[in-house]
Amino acid sequence: MCGIVGYVGKQNAVSIILEGLKRLEYRGYDSAGVCVEKGRKLDLVKKAGRVDNLAKAVAKHRLAGTTGIGHTRWATHGGVTDENAHPHVSSDEKFALIHNGVIENYAQIKTFLSGKGYTFQSETDTEVLCNLIAYHYAKEPARTKGHSRFVESVRKTLRHVEGTYGIAVLCVDFPGEIVGARKASPLILGVGDNEYILASDASALVSRTQNVVYLKDGEIVHLTPKNFSISTLDQADVSPVVDKITWSIADSELGKHTHFMEKEIFEQPTALENAMRGRFSADGSTAQFGGLNITASEFREMERFMFCACGTAWHACLVTEHLIERFARIPVEVDYASEFRYRNSPLDARTLFFVMSQSGETIDTLAALREAKRKGYRVMAVNNVVGSSIAREADGGIYQHVGPEVGVASTKAFTSQLLIGAMIALYVARMRDMSFSDGVGYVNALKGAPDLVRKTLKQAAKIKVIAKKYAGYNDMLFLGRLSLFPLALEGALKLKEISYIHAEGYPAAEMKHGPIALVSEKCPSVFFAPKGEIFSKIVSSMQEIKARKGPIIAITTEGSDLPKGVADDVIEIPECHEAVLPIVAAIPIQLLSYYIAVERGCDVDKPRNLAKSVTVE
Ligand code: AGP
Ligand code: GLU
Repeated sequence: MCGIVGYVGKQNAVSIILEGLKRLEYRGYDSAGVCVEKGRKLDLVKKAGRVDNLAKAVAKHRLAGTTGIGHTRWATHGGVTDENAHPHVSSDEKFALIHNGVIENYAQIKTFLSGKGYTFQSETDTEVLCNLIAYHYAKEPARTKGHSRFVESVRKTLRHVEGTYGIAVLCVDFPGEIVGARKASPLILGVGDNEYILASDASALVSRTQNVVYLKDGEIVHLTPKNFSISTLDQADVSPVVDKITWSIADSELGKHTHFMEKEIFEQPTALENAMRGRFSADGSTAQFGGLNITASEFREMERFMFCACGTAWHACLVTEHLIERFARIPVEVDYASEFRYRNSPLDARTLFFVMSQSGETIDTLAALREAKRKGYRVMAVNNVVGSSIAREADGGIYQHVGPEVGVASTKAFTSQLLIGAMIALYVARMRDMSFSDGVGYVNALKGAPDLVRKTLKQAAKIKVIAKKYAGYNDMLFLGRLSLFPLALEGALKLKEISYIHAEGYPAAEMKHGPIALVSEKCPSVFFAPKGEIFSKIVSSMQEIKARKGPIIAITTEGSDLPKGVADDVIEIPECHEAVLPIVAAIPIQLLSYYIAVERGCDVDKPRNLAKSVTVE
């Protein structure tokens, strides 16, 4: 997690860095800090708390300069204190450094450096990096080409480091310069008009430039006021590829909404349209994807799919599993990326491996991708952020195309993952047993999904009233079956992450094997009860809860004949095709958890302890 920004140019670095940090705050908000290099000195302000807090301290301090670095932290090593906030300065006061990641061998390095007289002000793993650079710098002979001494000390340091990092470093002996590097944490270089900006993601620099270089793992970038160069840890020069960001700053602004989560919930009809655009065959009977880099016949030969992801994306994989097995009749396995990476799962030759990740930077998902590739498998990625680490390392993939998702709680990214999962199921099913006319029906249903979501969103006012009624509870169950069981998991995750209400998601019938012990008038249940072959079974589960005085919110399809009195509150969603149902069913649980969190006065977009992309293990 953590957001990092570095600026080299002619403008006031501090305001540009603060603006960047504001936009990166979704990545971590425990503390924030800025350091500028001025007159061969480092000037630093850092504070526990949010970027707004830092901005006040910066104004008071009158911090200014044209070269600087800034950081917004999600603490891994050391508590949330001013001392542990980044940037960190080396004990000889020559270097300042910001870091996103974890230095795994920091304790050994710290012992080594302490023995050499280096001192430490913080409990972080990051501070050792800064001092190790100072140590190598002191040993590095001064070269004729002065700048290389700075770059070489960073390079030497990184060769001794185990773990992950995205860093930016200032050195008082090299005014107007920054050295950056990355390994498994994201880092992007914005190439502006007489200025360069380094950042964890494009949102921090898109207001100044749309020209970017996506740095790769093991690369070191050296910025000077006039130019930049990239090299590897092995000292090889790299020719940079400058890409263009296709979205603008307006896409990551709040507009008329109170929270990004609210904005992103209401954006879903358009987001779904964008995610499906150009992805249906001309005959309207199947899906097509441009970036799979695998031929239809190779795809046809696959006998099993494996999906790995974390959090909400993992829930989207579970729905995808259901749809692929249901429509294409191919076995699918879904695993948590964090488990897969260590459990040495046996995969057979005809397995196609998928990862799903909104950010494309989740470290566990990236590690699962690498593990599958190491074993010789082709890996496809479903991913939203163009140019992310996962997008670049996958063999092929499908972009979600829903624009930046800023709210920590995933909403539009989730429904677009459900849509893409449904399209993968269709693509495979049509290669096998699904008929032309069933394919056309399926495609038309997917095309209709944005309108059904629009219709469901019209229930927002009603759901807000229901939310008020339930905002005071401390526990809640979410229950669903088949493709809506993962939606029960997602409902529980959404509610707990933004409102801090304890919630559990279960298959509705499994509830009686344990969770029913929780049921009382103090523990409401949210039931997914759509019309369908097991509707009556779901109603029986509801009766079992009702008999034990558990309040019930039912999410049911229009005209489902839900017996009177079985639910205390009913939210109706339109009847829809099986592949579209999970997408539409996501809307009420998103709105319910959003309004409950607002009612409880929670910080919806920045829930405690969380960060948007989890780039540490
Ligand atoms: C979603 O609401 C969560 N904040 C979280 O579970 C998220 O989905 C997970 O961290 C995976 O992120 P990714 O899609 O960017 O990989
Ligand atoms: N490990 C560093 C710290 O705790 C950076 C954390 C991160 O990237 O999330 O300060």
